[in-house]
Amino acid sequence: MQPTTIASKDPVAVAVAAAIAPSDRLIVALDLPDMAAAEAMIGRLGDSVTFYKIGYQLAYAGGLSMVGRLADAGKKIFIDLKLHDIGNTVARGVESIAKSGATFLTVHAYPQTMKAAVEARAGSSLKILAVTVLTSYDDGDLHAAGYRLGVSDLVEARARQAQALGVDGLVCSPEEVASLRQIVGHQMHLVTPGIRPQGSSVGDQKRIMTPARAIAAGADYLVVGRPVMEAADPRAAADAIQAEIAQALG
Ligand code: C5P
Repeated sequence: MQPTTIASKDPVAVAVAAAIAPSDRLIVALDLPDMAAAEAMIGRLGDSVTFYKIGYQLAYAGGLSMVGRLADAGKKIFIDLKLHDIGNTVARGVESIAKSGATFLTVHAYPQTMKAAVEARAGSSLKILAVTVLTSYDDGDLHAAGYRLGVSDLVEARARQAQALGVDGLVCSPEEVASLRQIVGHQMHLVTPGIRPQGSSVGDQKRIMTPARAIAAGADYLVVGRPVMEAADPRAAADAIQAEIAQALG
């Protein structure tokens, strides 16, 4: 079945979608063990990738020092450190990250944390993304952690809180995009990992979609790690995803 294109959707969706450069919609996760591997990968990917994600693995191996350099080279950077601490500590951390030139930063979707992060990024170009419920959690995991709500109710409650607090976007599974759009409209960015091009290995991701289907479902940005990192030709893999995104955008 052919996915619906953004062009067939409502005018607000079309306007918001048009504000994002198509090539920026692919965010490649630099899930690599050290700086040398990251530099080599960035060199191989060249102009094919404009947006990179730095997570725990590379950040704690010196990766944050690349942010300014990548930004100066015209790349956008998503720092995926999923912050959560007392408000003052979150705010001071966000202030430092805002100065680095990064575009996105994740925090856990707790009200105090989101409020502190949103206030601390004011006046910078940094955008805050909230992680509603980790995708590895099911209802039983939430119950074991002391929560009363199941995954879908907690995702919805936190999405509403995030929007009310002025958070810029949400990280969610591709399957949650359509229902979250109903809740938060088009003012928040929806960023989805769990993307697998046709024929690529699923790895540990459980709820996956192809790039085209995720875009058609309403995702703004797609986070892709292993299908690019582990490809025999990472640049060709990234180019193929970019082409699929461009086609889905109509
Ligand atoms: O290799 P793969 O494409 O599965 O990588 C997805 C990236 O998105 C990884 O960096 C992973 O940590 C991140 N991520 C995720 N699920 C979330 C949030 C982030 O897979 N819920």
